[in-house]
Parts: sequence; structure tokens; C-alpha cells
Amino acid sequence: MLVSVTEMLQKARKEKYAVGQFNINNLEWTKAILLTAEECKSPVILGVSEGAGKYMTGYKTIVGMVNGMLESLNITVPVALHLDHGSYDGALAAMEAGFSSIMFDGSHYAIEENVAKTTELVNLAHSKGVSLEAEVGSIGGEEDGVVGAGEVADPAECKMIADLGIDILAAGIGNIHGKYPENWQGLNFDVLAEISEKTSPMPLVLHGGTGIPEEMIKKAISLGVSKINVNTECQLSFAEATRKYIEAGKDLEGKGFDPRKLLAPGFEAIKATVKEKMELFGSIGKA
Ligand code: 13P
Repeated sequence: MLVSVTEMLQKARKEKYAVGQFNINNLEWTKAILLTAEECKSPVILGVSEGAGKYMTGYKTIVGMVNGMLESLNITVPVALHLDHGSYDGALAAMEAGFSSIMFDGSHYAIEENVAKTTELVNLAHSKGVSLEAEVGSIGGEEDGVVGAGEVADPAECKMIADLGIDILAAGIGNIHGKYPENWQGLNFDVLAEISEKTSPMPLVLHGGTGIPEEMIKKAISLGVSKINVNTECQLSFAEATRKYIEAGKDLEGKGFDPRKLLAPGFEAIKATVKEKMELFGSIGKA
């Protein structure tokens, strides 16, 4: 059964490790992440962006697929199905379809509107036993070829949003989605420490987990980060393994073109990446 992230992340914050949110795109992604979590006895969060939701034909399909796999793969570790960067309407739709956790990203609204919409959604989410992540300070990244620096959130605004009764808080601290540019300044730990102090014991979320150096990940966890989102890194591992298979001409040997064979190296590569992250985040054996 899917669970909200509340309990798993409160435990993580207390015991100083982080639970990975790995974004899914299809059946192979979902199966790879669930099997790795079970093998590692780690709690896990499956992230679904609105774009990935549309790609997989809608939230209901995803809820059906994930619930089916929890049963058929005998998954016993805590699993949350979480909407990533949800709009207001997306949040309502995902809750209605059976997601167990929602991120409402109101970071692009003025703080008053972010507060109003987050308040409305947190009340609704909690009435359904669903957890809610809110965001302050937008997380940059590559959009239309332009790489924006990650914004740094205002700790006072973080406190305002945290006090609304949300379950987890994502705050921009110079992190961005996708690969980091050469001249990236790194995470702003002074601001993270201030946010953490003002909002404690709220579990904090670090977006843009791909490419952040290990020492920075560990330091972020020590300062209250309890959930780390990883998306691009699984995509890169999958693409690299698939490319190698095709470049080696394996799809031309025997029945190597069978999608169950063709997608197997990418599937294994996602498993390896997820395991590596679970080790780094310290969530192995914490289920
Ligand atoms: P990356 O794609 O940089 O790993 O970021 C993932 C993320 O933060 C999803 O919300």
C-alpha cells in the first residue's frame, strides 16, 4: 500500500539520513526503482512530474501501475507516490487519482498567493491522508537552452510557509535541475542552516540531486535535508547503457531487438544508480 512521506521523512530527519525521490517515466523505471528499494531495504519516493504524468497517459494509469507492482513484486518497504512540481490543478488531479503525496510548487507566485494556495491544498491533502511539499525560492535549471542560477530562498518566507502545517519544505539554496554548469557556485549552506533553524524539525527537500558532489550532499543532510530528488542522473545512466548496447550491435544479434532485451541494460543501469544514491543518502536498511 502506498504511504505518505510524513512518517518516513520525520524518521529520516531524526536519524540524519535522506530518502531519495526518483522520478519515473515508464514501467522499466518504476520496476527498477521499486526492486532496488526492496533489495536495499530502503524507503523510497517515486516522483512524477506533470509532463511525465501526461506521457504515461495520466495519473490514474500511474496509480494503477504502481499499486499493481507493489503487489506483484511483493514490495514491503514504504513507498510514496509523489507529484513533483505540481500546479494547483495538477495537485487536485493527482490527489483525486490516488497519489499519496503532492508537491505544490507555488514558488513563482508572490508569497501571499503562495501562502493562500498552499493553505488550501494542505488542508485538502491532510483530509485525505496525503502529505504536502511546498516550495519557496524557485529552483533554476535549463529551460529553452538558458541555464539559470538557482534562486536562494528567503528564510523568513520559508518559516511563513512551514508554519502552514505542510509536511516537507523545498527551499532553493543555489541548487538547479539537470547538469550543473562549470561555474556553479555550490549550495549555500549558510542559508540552509538558517532555514533549518527557523523551520526545525520540518524535513527539508533538496531538488536537483544530479551532479551535487558527495560532500555537499552529506553536509546538506547534516543540516536537515531529509529528501533528495534525483531525475536526470537515472536518465543519463539509462541512455548510456542503451547506447552501448546498440553501438556494440547487440540489437542485431539473434533476438537482441526484443524490447525486453534492448531495454535490459538501461534497466540495470537505473538500478545501479538508485543503489549508489541510497548508499550515499544513508537510507539503506532504514525501511
Ligand atoms: P535532477 O534532474 O537535477 O536530478 O533534479 C530532480 C528534481 O529535483 C526533480 O524535482
